[in-house]
Amino acid sequence: MKIGIGSDHGGYELKEVIKEYLTSEGIEFVDYGTNSLDSVDYPDFGKRVADAVLNKEVDRGILICGTGIGISITANRIKGIRCALCSDTFSARMSRLHNDANILALGGRVLGKGLALDIVKIFLETEFEGGRHERRINKIDEITC
Ligand code: RB5
Repeated sequence: MKIGIGSDHGGYELKEVIKEYLTSEGIEFVDYGTNSLDSVDYPDFGKRVADAVLNKEVDRGILICGTGIGISITANRIKGIRCALCSDTFSARMSRLHNDANILALGGRVLGKGLALDIVKIFLETEFEGGRHERRINKIDEITC
């Protein structure tokens, strides 16, 4: 599985921690920036990773900003993206089982390193259950307004 990862400055440090983890697990990834603690705008990075998921450059995405809120709102504007902002492992598991979330969002200023990596691990190893949940996620994409 190939992962696309991106953050703003508020998520930069956690992004680097997650990259180390992915490398140690032999999981391939593409880093879509940002590349320093200099102030940037989270929508730019949310869109880059969301586009990469939709274009199938990568299989799943991980997005990080200070709270995870702005970058998850950005990604969820894009049709076909199901971005789950998670601060606990139960939500991370359910976001895959029931929602087939294709992007995980995290708050770099919210989570400790250990919990963040547990959330990432569960997000990456949990498969979608399908069945009735498939019907429900299809209904999301049918919404146009
Ligand atoms: C940047 O200061 C901060 O607003 C951003 O990282 C994020 O938390 C927005 O939702």
